[in-house]
Amino acid sequence: MKVAVLGAAGGIGQALALLLKTQLPAGSKLSLYDIAPVTPGVAVDLSHIPTDVEVKGFAGEDPTAALVDADVVLMSAGVARKPGMDRSDLFNINAGIVRNLMEKVAVTCPKALVGIITNPVNTTVAIAAEVLKNAGVYDKNRLFGITTLDVIRSETFIAELKGLNVADVKVNVIGGHSGVTILPLLSQVEGVTFTDEEVAAMTTRIQNAGTEVVEAKAGGGSATLSMGQAACRFGLSLVRGLQGEANVVECAYVDGGSEHAEFFAQPVVLGKNGVEKVLPYGDISAFEANARDAMLDTLKGDIKLGVEFVK
Ligand code: 2OP
Repeated sequence: MKVAVLGAAGGIGQALALLLKTQLPAGSKLSLYDIAPVTPGVAVDLSHIPTDVEVKGFAGEDPTAALVDADVVLMSAGVARKPGMDRSDLFNINAGIVRNLMEKVAVTCPKALVGIITNPVNTTVAIAAEVLKNAGVYDKNRLFGITTLDVIRSETFIAELKGLNVADVKVNVIGGHSGVTILPLLSQVEGVTFTDEEVAAMTTRIQNAGTEVVEAKAGGGSATLSMGQAACRFGLSLVRGLQGEANVVECAYVDGGSEHAEFFAQPVVLGKNGVEKVLPYGDISAFEANARDAMLDTLKGDIKLGVEFVK
């Protein structure tokens, strides 16, 4: 397996690269790309860690060398939020970055599974899809918005609130990856009950968790370490699916034929061709149904922005 990280010198990229270096299956290759000149040095640094994962680093304007033969591409390139900013405020800079990188992906490794981390994910995934469509290589089963951070945050916060072992808490998070479009399905968490007040407070905390980090970092950026962990979990799941492991399931923001929007985060089975099956997200509460319906205008607007940017 060859995994390419685009944006590998940034806060998320470096954390992600470290985790992949220590957790990818033996014999894997890790390819790091960033515009920043330090990137080959990040690869040298990681190469001193004794695991059977070969690391190479590439810097400069052109990511092509990093993308050759990539099975999985994880894209974190772009700028991060500062206090007072919404993820959509990143659109002007990050949209162009994602478009340019995806043009290279479309030419160099069109069959790779691509996981987008770069915000605003609700929009950048739509941009990536349009670029791939224009190049005639779009396969909806191979493109993902990584929403795993919303899942791991949900698991962590619920375990804390209810005094549970976090390893036992499983939560589906549907919708998108921004504000009200993040919808944790708390009614489905096995063995846990919440009061109405707890549901409202927990949902709001999960939706605002990215902002919690942005404010705590006080101008120093947004979540990098937890995002690195989330992207690593998702990237390793993509690899496990590619290697033929059965029943690899993750929530992800995909073009999965949802009745709600062109892209929608929900549980998917991952396999040798990316999305093997989109799973129904199951029964939900009245609170969740209301929240789902209320998010759709925002989500569809985010998607439209991406489509129009490329057009
Ligand atoms: C977050 O949710 C960075 O979007 C990321 O914190």
